[in-house]
Amino acid sequence: MYNHIDEDILVHLINIIGEENVFTDKETIETYSKDETENLFYPPEVVVKPQNSHQICEILKLSNHLKIPVYPRGGGTGLSGGALCYYGGIALSIEKLNKILEIDNNNLQVVVEPGVITQTFQEKLEENGLFYPPDPASRGSCMLGGNIAENSGGPRALKYGVTKDYVLSLEAVLPSGEIINTGTRTLKNVTGYNLTQLLTGSEGTLAVITKITFKVLVMPKFRKVMLAAFNRVDDCISVVSEIFKSGVVPSALEFMERNAIKAAENHLNRKFPNSEAEAHLLIELDGNYELTIEKDIEKIYEIIEENNPYEIILAEDRNKMETLWELRRSTGEAVKSISVYKEIDAVVIRNKISDLLRGVKEITKNYNIRVVCYGHAGDGNLHVNILKDNLEDDVWRNALDKVTEEILKLTVALGGTISGEHGIGLTQKKFLGIALNNTEIELMKKIKKIFDPNNILNPGKIF
Ligand code: LAC
Ligand code: ZN
Repeated sequence: MYNHIDEDILVHLINIIGEENVFTDKETIETYSKDETENLFYPPEVVVKPQNSHQICEILKLSNHLKIPVYPRGGGTGLSGGALCYYGGIALSIEKLNKILEIDNNNLQVVVEPGVITQTFQEKLEENGLFYPPDPASRGSCMLGGNIAENSGGPRALKYGVTKDYVLSLEAVLPSGEIINTGTRTLKNVTGYNLTQLLTGSEGTLAVITKITFKVLVMPKFRKVMLAAFNRVDDCISVVSEIFKSGVVPSALEFMERNAIKAAENHLNRKFPNSEAEAHLLIELDGNYELTIEKDIEKIYEIIEENNPYEIILAEDRNKMETLWELRRSTGEAVKSISVYKEIDAVVIRNKISDLLRGVKEITKNYNIRVVCYGHAGDGNLHVNILKDNLEDDVWRNALDKVTEEILKLTVALGGTISGEHGIGLTQKKFLGIALNNTEIELMKKIKKIFDPNNILNPGKIF
């Protein structure tokens, strides 16, 4: 179906980007064979690290002509196998397109290349008093291009939205090698179809992003974090809706059940407050007026007090807040270190999260499988980690698909969908039909075909 990389093709690639940017050594191939998804391993035949969009055009032209699969890749932190080289071919790393090109303080816009690490970007903006809210747990190593590909969210989505809400325009290279510029730097634009939003979240299957214009915000002056522990998960979840109904909009509202906290404690080798409680909410508030935040905190205290808390902790200095965030951010990695696992990235509307959680517990109990749940309670996005533990391989494989299917069907029945922020990629594609009907899937396949008639860009993903 596809051609393989041979000596001639390597020479072509070297002519385009130079020998120093073409890799076939064992170590590099191994690194680019994985991402953060489960224990999957799909080696590329060659890894290329172009430095500009022109080189990416040439690589895509060559690949399109010779029918070689190309797998665009950012930080390799994806959780649905979106960057894995399913059919071998070329792993195209964007890591060398890593410049922040322009910070426009007057219009609150920033132009960047896609290989900038998300945390580096956020810190650079902070030096300028600016704020880019999307905040994936992998922010220390994920890249903005990858965030666009997966339309990453993170904890602040409930107040600030996700990646798509900050993308104004994109420069991208089509599989044919042609360059397009989508959108404009204006805040309004109804000039034709919205290709910017089509590419955002398209999981590297339609085009390779080479330049991004983001709109950003001014950094809020104050931030405070509360950690509320509960003896009953139901009480913990009730608090979530009550907070929103009271008119308070936290900048994050994260849920962790006991085994998630315990996993993070073991992983970080640190003891965390009240880790013996059944469930925790990590609540962050931000804003420009300390008094408003204090009033909001009072309101939240009242709500929590009515829901049988175990204990409430307030963190106001930066170190304490960071310690709590570190606990939350490390949860995914911590779970991974316990056992082989599969993660489900279910998302429902906020007040259905307790139904989802209850259903997940029932389903996994029926199959005798251990599950660790945590996630972004404020926007209904629950990360359900199904653990293999000591199960025999065939028992695990057999149960896993059934458990996943039941959980995803429940999610959709509750009005939700099968991925909130990790994407369909490779690992969720067999479940796509649970969320979308045939007409919808066919329409998407046609869109893919228009962009990529030879199916060379990230083939084997989504469908
Ligand atoms: C998190 C990642 C797994 O929320 O999305 O930690
Ligand atoms: Zn998440």
